[in-house]
Amino acid sequence: MADPSQNISPTKSWYNLILHLHPRKVKPYTLRFTLTFGLGGMAALLVVIQVFTGLLLKFHYIPSPEGAYNSVLNINEGLLFGKLAHNIHHWSAVTLLWITFLHMLRVVFTGAYSKPRHATWIFGMILLILVILSNFTGYLLPWDQLSFWAVTVVTSLLQYVPLIGETAKQTLLGGPEVGAVTLSNFFNLHTGIIPLLIIIMMGYHFWRIRKAGGVILPVSKKEEPLTDTYPNLVAREFVVALVLLAFLLAISVFFDAPLRERANPYFSPNPAKAPWYFMGLQELLIHFHPVFVVVVFPLTILAGSLWLPFLKLTDTHSGIWFISNRGKKAGKQAVASGIIFTVVFILVSELLPDPETLLPSVPSLILTGLVPFIIVAGTMYMFMEYIRRKYSINRAEYIQTLIILLVVSYAVLSLVGILFRGQGMKLMWPWQI
Ligand code: HEM
Ligand code: HEM
Repeated sequence: MADPSQNISPTKSWYNLILHLHPRKVKPYTLRFTLTFGLGGMAALLVVIQVFTGLLLKFHYIPSPEGAYNSVLNINEGLLFGKLAHNIHHWSAVTLLWITFLHMLRVVFTGAYSKPRHATWIFGMILLILVILSNFTGYLLPWDQLSFWAVTVVTSLLQYVPLIGETAKQTLLGGPEVGAVTLSNFFNLHTGIIPLLIIIMMGYHFWRIRKAGGVILPVSKKEEPLTDTYPNLVAREFVVALVLLAFLLAISVFFDAPLRERANPYFSPNPAKAPWYFMGLQELLIHFHPVFVVVVFPLTILAGSLWLPFLKLTDTHSGIWFISNRGKKAGKQAVASGIIFTVVFILVSELLPDPETLLPSVPSLILTGLVPFIIVAGTMYMFMEYIRRKYSINRAEYIQTLIILLVVSYAVLSLVGILFRGQGMKLMWPWQI
């Protein structure tokens, strides 16, 4: 029997392009919006928007401390649609970070990270790191007070990395402090190396998705007869793309990218805060030794993420949101407990007398690093054991619950850092700041 998709002329170049991205036919369940919420596709579109608007901005941006701020003012005020391009670049960067993160959570919540999707997951992790780095390197470019001091705060953390920290910091900054070489380095990373790596990794990510047989499906849907990709899937993707574009255009028309006064290296705002996505780390610095915040925590999370796809899981629940009802209940309890634990932890750590004054003879790495780390890790372990027994959850549900706990805790730390830290990083109400 004739294949209906053959009706589309193979000479149509746009159809050939689609075939590079999709197979000719897919399982009907793949068309369900709620399976993936289109998040991976949205992330891809946002990268394209970033490259396009970024290239436009590059025509008029001057990467030097003397020229940068004024060139951004000129883009905003002196160019036709300059402000729109700048605003779209800014809001699309923020949206990309959120969408990439939500896409990662969707992968976790549908159990789509284990074999044969292990490489997709690992290259996804690399993409997440690159998206964070592109946001961070872009942050400095407007060269205003906000960007200059935020980058100063974050890059100063590098010095706590044992052995290589100081050299790495000096290499990145091109000197002891943020200055002309830093701006030039960030500009080159931002407009050259990082986008190039993102595009290469994205290509590999997509290839691995196809190699794994498309997105994950519930076991019961795997045997359904196939349906044509065009127009069924393509039309749906088109609608998602249009809604995303309309959303970006609307916020970019009504809300301007923040731009404070020109950077002044001699006047630090009090408090100087990191970019919002690193505020959770800055908040942790108040409670833990910097080596733990900068090295131990990130490496533990990274090692855990790389190990995750190699865990053996039963696939009876894969492709189903939150794996099962038990998974859902355990997840809800992790949300509530994550909020309570983190708030209590911050308050206790704030109210306790300074341990270094009480026990000056104990090295601070042990006193403010190892000891609180063991307490926090021990509490988490006991909580997870309690949840495992209470809901009889399996491995995939256990991992999901643990990730929810960590994400909620980081969100609370970030909110406290952003909203409740005033002068001298003292805890205060938002209206007192
Ligand atoms: C994933 C990709 C990218 C992300 C997440 C990103 C993010 C950012 C961010 C957050 C800013 C600061 C804008 C502000 O808040 O005012 C920025 C500025 C800038 N970006 Fe990108 N960017 C990306 C790709 C690119 C590319 C590919 C280019 C050019 C080849 C580029 C060129 C620029 C330029 C010239 C500026 C400075 C002008 C301005 O501040 O508007 N970006 N970027
Ligand atoms: C720029 C960033 C990214 C882009 C453009 C991207 C793109 C995509 C697309 C288009 C899909 C298929 C459709 C969908 O799931 O929505 C997908 C699937 C997948 N992505 Fe990503 N992704 C990105 C980041 C990530 C991250 C951060 C992770 C995890 C750490 C990840 C892991 C995966 C996995 C495991 C799949 C397969 C899911 C399945 O089979 O159901 N991706 N990605």
